[in-house]
Amino acid sequence: MIRRIAAAVAVVALTVPLAAAIGDVPVTSRDGLVVCSSAPACDVGAKILGRGGNAVDAAIATAFALAVTHPSAGNIGGGGFMIVRTPNGDATTFDFREKAPLKSTRTMYLRDGEIDISLTNAGYLAPGVPGTVRGLGLAHKRFGKLSWREIVTPAVQLADEGFVLSDALARSLNHQLSGAMGRFHASVEAYGKPGGGTWAAGDRLVLKDLAKTLRLIATGGPDAFYKGWIADRIAEDMAANGGLITKEDLAKYEAKERAPVRGQYRGYEIISMPPPSSGGTALIEMLNVLEPFDLKAKGRNSADSLHLQIEAMRRAYLDRARFLGDPDFVEVPVARLISKEHARTLSGTIDPLKASRSVDLGKDIVAPSSQESDETTHFSVIDRNGMAVASTYTLEGSYGSRAVVKGAGFLLNNEMGDFNKNPGVTDGAGNIGTAANLIDPGKRMLSSMTPTIVTRNGRVVLITGSPGGRTIINTVLSVVLGVTEFDLDVRDAVDAPRMHHQWLPDTVTIERDGVTEEVVQKLRTMGHTVNVGGTQGDANSIQVDEAGLATGAADRRSPGGKASTPAGLTSPR
Ligand code: DON
Repeated sequence: MIRRIAAAVAVVALTVPLAAAIGDVPVTSRDGLVVCSSAPACDVGAKILGRGGNAVDAAIATAFALAVTHPSAGNIGGGGFMIVRTPNGDATTFDFREKAPLKSTRTMYLRDGEIDISLTNAGYLAPGVPGTVRGLGLAHKRFGKLSWREIVTPAVQLADEGFVLSDALARSLNHQLSGAMGRFHASVEAYGKPGGGTWAAGDRLVLKDLAKTLRLIATGGPDAFYKGWIADRIAEDMAANGGLITKEDLAKYEAKERAPVRGQYRGYEIISMPPPSSGGTALIEMLNVLEPFDLKAKGRNSADSLHLQIEAMRRAYLDRARFLGDPDFVEVPVARLISKEHARTLSGTIDPLKASRSVDLGKDIVAPSSQESDETTHFSVIDRNGMAVASTYTLEGSYGSRAVVKGAGFLLNNEMGDFNKNPGVTDGAGNIGTAANLIDPGKRMLSSMTPTIVTRNGRVVLITGSPGGRTIINTVLSVVLGVTEFDLDVRDAVDAPRMHHQWLPDTVTIERDGVTEEVVQKLRTMGHTVNVGGTQGDANSIQVDEAGLATGAADRRSPGGKASTPAGLTSPR
């Protein structure tokens, strides 16, 4: 329901004249930029840049602030990824994806042989071991310039003093409290309106327990979360409510620095997230498949151009379903999947006039599940020296497990649902049971998050990423093609209509008003099943021109985002 409301709000935003829409004025800066989904959190990051922090400091500060001001996805109880490119051109990634608890089993979500999806939608069996605080700590250890305490403290203040609710957040909280989150006493204590009643725009949300937790993290570092009082609260809550995460899980959790996946597209370098995200691999695979075709000559929104993109999506998502998983547990043939040679083989199977059938391409395995929801958040950061950060992190569903840790005031994720939950059973109803992404203790579940940095001739051109579950990779493809293939500026590339095909179900969903009826009809004639849907993604992006001027584009599909510069801090607390 809340997603429908969000989609409705976003559709309105897209259909009003763009000049009147929020965030229309391009925000440019030479002193750094933070583009994220919640204005007060973007401002926190920009303030850190203004104090001499680098892009990693600002990204960490933004992430902690989003955990306060954007509770549906901003988090300390979830996980995610971060890509960093330093001014000297080195690039690396941080993997802080959640892990399956040590007590988890491959069949833990089966009841009478069927997946019981309620167990991963909400509650205490749904969370993986959170990774965010360790990951941000690792990134800080590698690159941080300001002290950890200095960059975490603004989030403590936001939680402690409160912040003003937007209409969208007030409605979202009311919806949660009267629905799934209302089941959890600690969640109602944390997020319910004091004295009862419903939240309204302009009310102040104060989160005292979260402030306490964040203060412990600010003073004690990540160990406070994984080994101290906070770990005790998580373990206690889990034990009291039939959850699996223990103190041992928390103490053993490690974030990892990993080499990014890299691809080339028409002279641009694509730097993106390796497994356990499928994002970077599938993105580069799709770009490679598309490179031999002249999409620009065919016209950006022509049926011929969209057809080729759909065929690239179909093939990359099939490989995703076949091969992708946690590289610490399974062999993932990334080098082959992102090779030009593999792409040539795939491109050769595309009929430029006719849709392929997904089931024909992937006869050996059948439909993957499409149970991913669309609450995650992406932020892009650049500093005055050109250090760039792309980070996407998540609780998985909106407000994750909906369960707040008692006394500690933060929400836990429901990321376990991203695993394949029924071993060996892949069926037309949308379940997948292939081996690479089955549950094993300590394993990370496969993700689609695709934080991405694009460079050309050794300089950053684009920083992007998005929420949206499995649609993420296609949203990022759209923004990257907008800039690299269609020569759009970042505003237009982010505004451009998006579509999604994920191999199975064999359907393409195109944003409403994204393309003409004639194009939809032509795609149908080619054999595609076309749905016209709501909005897709929230790609908060930054483009940098040859003179080093950065332009930010907060995605207008979601209310509340902002491109913040150190000089332009406006949001009310
Ligand atoms: O890691 C993933 O791919 C998903 N858990 C992300 C979920 C998501 O994007 C939901 N939100 N918008």
